[in-house]
Amino acid sequence: MSFCIAVDGPAGAGKSTIARGVAKDMGIVYVDTGAMYRAMAFHLIQKGTDLEDQAAISRDCQDAEISISHIDGEQVVLLNGENVTPHLRNEEVSRKASLCSTNPDVRKRLVALQQKIAQHTDLIMDGRDIGTCVLPDARLKIYLTASVQTRAMRRFTELSQKGEDCDLKTIEKDIADRDYRDMHREISPLRKAPDAVELATSDMTIEQVTQTVLSLVLEKRMEALTEEIDTAASPKCASASGSREADSAECGIDSDESAGDAERRQHRWK
Ligand code: DC
Repeated sequence: MSFCIAVDGPAGAGKSTIARGVAKDMGIVYVDTGAMYRAMAFHLIQKGTDLEDQAAISRDCQDAEISISHIDGEQVVLLNGENVTPHLRNEEVSRKASLCSTNPDVRKRLVALQQKIAQHTDLIMDGRDIGTCVLPDARLKIYLTASVQTRAMRRFTELSQKGEDCDLKTIEKDIADRDYRDMHREISPLRKAPDAVELATSDMTIEQVTQTVLSLVLEKRMEALTEEIDTAASPKCASASGSREADSAECGIDSDESAGDAERRQHRWK
């Protein structure tokens, strides 16, 4: 049974920094799902797809084979076999990833990939819909937030340190626009799962957030261990909790999962 941690929150809340730190500390895999949406956006940019045209996105996303691997603990994204990781972190790709992530066919493809990766691997996965849709039965769910101003300032500092020319007000507006799109889209909008722990990070250091998450992980590890011992002591198979039907409905994605797959999932995630 794999141990999964879901981390969600708006752009710039520190998800990737925290998830990467926790993954390293625990020796588990970090999966950055935003990079998959970025790779899809990169693919659509290369094809010249009109990102205001949902039918064109649905058509053109079909020939993007996206996969990930890890080199020295860092995630690498492959698009049709080519490593596109160096092309994913710029403002054009950020904007277009947000646009194409509203498309149901894009989400269906990427969510299926994310769920497949989580099936047999202990991991921490970050994104916008991980706790609500991708891993509704994750052992621990974290929802990270920070004010728009704080997030814009973090991004401004990061870009300035790289020597990139940038404007704080433009970054602030971009972040606010992306928040609005991510939170108001029809399918899998960004929202806190009811059972997620919310951490407001505006006044916290990276170290403080990482330590807070690590202590929550420890608690959940102990809980999982106790359950395993209890299950071993009593051979009855625990039945699943949670409703896949309700989760699929909230995600707005038709599930291709077979009844057998669903049953195996349910027994894996108690
Ligand atoms: O986390 P990020 O900024 O790299 O994500 C890029 C875009 O992808 C973001 O605008 C929202 C979208 N996204 C999503 O819709 N669902 C996810 N699980 C991850 C990212």
